[in-house]
Amino acid sequence: MERTLCIIKPDAVRKNVVGEIIAMITEKGFRILGMKMIRLSSQDAGEFYAVHKGRPFYNDLVEFMTSGNVVVMALEKENAVVDYRALIGATDPAEAEEETVRKRFASSKGENAVHGSDSVENGIKEVAFFFSERELIG
Ligand code: CMP
Repeated sequence: MERTLCIIKPDAVRKNVVGEIIAMITEKGFRILGMKMIRLSSQDAGEFYAVHKGRPFYNDLVEFMTSGNVVVMALEKENAVVDYRALIGATDPAEAEEETVRKRFASSKGENAVHGSDSVENGIKEVAFFFSERELIG
């Protein structure tokens, strides 16, 4: 079993499509181990995206991710990382496959509806960034 972190970003929360995105995820067989709606502080967002510090889009990314509530979910499934990335589609919605979350709900590379962990190792780290083990169902 693998874990991956989903963040439903502020653009998707504002569009009121949280339920549709969760349905797309659970229909693919992911189990939700933990879920919460929160507002990220600049410090949280800066730390979470520290790997992108120095990139031209970093400040906009932090500003956007703190612009409204997000829904964070710890997901579990066999091959969760690869399968979840296939479900959400490419970072740029213009390049995303039909029927993916980003094709349906993202409007740009920045405002792209959802985040997904990019490796098994980061899936574990990112879930631990938002959830203690006590908050996750066993
Ligand atoms: P996410 O999966 O959350 O991980 C890093 C985020 O940086 C990515 O989704 C995009 O929202 C954002 N990002 C990556 N590249 C760009 C870019 N060229 N312009 C704006 N935002 C970007």
